[in-house]
Amino acid sequence: MRRSINYSRRRFLLQTGAGILVCAGAPRWLRAMEGANMHAMPKITPNAASPSFNPDVEIELVCQPDSVPILNGLETRVWRYSAALIKGPENTLTVLPGSYLGPILRFRKGQKIRIRLRNELPEPTITHWHGLHVPALMDGHPMYAIDPGEVFVYEFEMLNRAGMYIYHPHPHEATATQVYHGLAGAILVNDEEEQALGLPSGEYEIPVVIQDRTFDDQNQLVYGRGMHFARFGFYGERILVNGRPDFRIDVSSRAYRLRVINASNARIYKLAWDDGTPIVVIGVDGGLLERPEEKPYVMLAPGERLDVWADFSGRSAGSRLVMRSRSFSGALPRMAERMMGRRGGMGGMGGMMGMGAMMAGTSLPVGGEYPIFTVNVTRSVSDSPSLPSHLPKIARYQLRDVANPDKPVPVAILEGPMSVLLNGRPYAENDVQESERIPVNSVQLMEIFHAHDGMHGMGMMGGMGMGGHMGKDGGMGMMSSMAHPIHLHGEQFQILERKIDEDHADDYATMRDGFIVSGWKDTVLVVPGERVRLIKPFHDFKGLYMYHCHNLEHEDMGMMRQFSVE
Ligand code: C2O
Ligand code: CU
Ligand code: CU
Repeated sequence: MRRSINYSRRRFLLQTGAGILVCAGAPRWLRAMEGANMHAMPKITPNAASPSFNPDVEIELVCQPDSVPILNGLETRVWRYSAALIKGPENTLTVLPGSYLGPILRFRKGQKIRIRLRNELPEPTITHWHGLHVPALMDGHPMYAIDPGEVFVYEFEMLNRAGMYIYHPHPHEATATQVYHGLAGAILVNDEEEQALGLPSGEYEIPVVIQDRTFDDQNQLVYGRGMHFARFGFYGERILVNGRPDFRIDVSSRAYRLRVINASNARIYKLAWDDGTPIVVIGVDGGLLERPEEKPYVMLAPGERLDVWADFSGRSAGSRLVMRSRSFSGALPRMAERMMGRRGGMGGMGGMMGMGAMMAGTSLPVGGEYPIFTVNVTRSVSDSPSLPSHLPKIARYQLRDVANPDKPVPVAILEGPMSVLLNGRPYAENDVQESERIPVNSVQLMEIFHAHDGMHGMGMMGGMGMGGHMGKDGGMGMMSSMAHPIHLHGEQFQILERKIDEDHADDYATMRDGFIVSGWKDTVLVVPGERVRLIKPFHDFKGLYMYHCHNLEHEDMGMMRQFSVE
């Protein structure tokens, strides 16, 4: 598709007699297309500003290469978002000092927002507003990827309730690399309900964007390529928070609000305070829960968010607290876990499938124990806000609200030795299956499950050439089954139930107390042997909405499909 776009542009240049530019002054990406295959496909014009849309907020958002100091010594080359406020409230943009992360975008429910995305990368990109309910054209679908030098204008009204959302690239087969090199940022939406609660804000509200990265001895980012990375995902050797290593927060002895995002490509965290203090959760992906929940730990998979009430009152100045990832098992296939050290080191398995080399330097096994960030209590203060016992009401969907109580929309996870798929098919731009057509303004029951757990929903997968890997036996299934954070674009959903089969109960026990099922979600971690039923509304907008694994290597491998809301 990119080719044909470039081709039509080139043809235009030739026809207007400006063809000489293609050789002389044309950018490298255009010249590189000179010899490309040219089959005619329709040109999708990058969206332009509409004169009738009168924005409350207008931003220019640029994706570009840059370099930032992350480790001691040499700066690290990254790709990053930067933004300029054209119109709107002063506090719309908050730059995280010294970080490659994009500025925090602060919006209010009801605002009309225009964002001009300019691509100054050497390759196509498009930005998606993860968790926001926007028209399909504004959702950052891969088919709208823009070339270097192009601008895509987004215009939408903020329909979401208060919550923390994410912006990140979404071009097909390049999301993982673009995010890895730094393209991501947080969106904080505020509304009246939230404001009325008087939760900690300003310096007492702290974003915590967790990522993992590997650096070479020149301080440059290392990203593994190839099938094995893709099959299990990329796991970095160092934890960064807000783009910084060894992240520390200096606090007063009072309550804070920590706004946490797992923006890692593949790594799943089991977050816990190191002294055993429970994590007080007040919100998840789609905003506040109805009431605070105390958790011994919280599982946080890529794409998920967590709103934490962190009360340091009563702690003396000089004390410290560490947020750690605790050990768990079953998120990766046993074989891969073993190689990543969690089940006894590399052992004799080192060379298998080339994973020895891949994992050789991994100092942070998935499911291992390691610190995420440190809190230093530096000042003693006597007053602190107290935790509200009730948060905004959530209208709970019931089974009787759905259009399809007996026929859940399937999201079947299919894991082969070299591939991972949803509903038996890899992503393809114009491919929509019957089960993926959803009537607009309906509320749907959906079911996410590992296809080899049983034969449910398998009819549609006949003839996909994957038959050999779908035994009921747990053979291939057990070997290659892993946890997948499944993300659905469009409106937030509610989890109805999570069910685990007996074979996986032991591993599940290391994670189960860390799942939060009571709030609005857009991403849910589905672990091996698990079946998740959820209710999702499809209101307001027709068009194509992606659903995919938020393990970004999986997404790029094609573990992505789309719903056609019609
Ligand atoms: Cu956060 Cu479709 O992605
Ligand atoms: Cu999304
Ligand atoms: Cu996955």
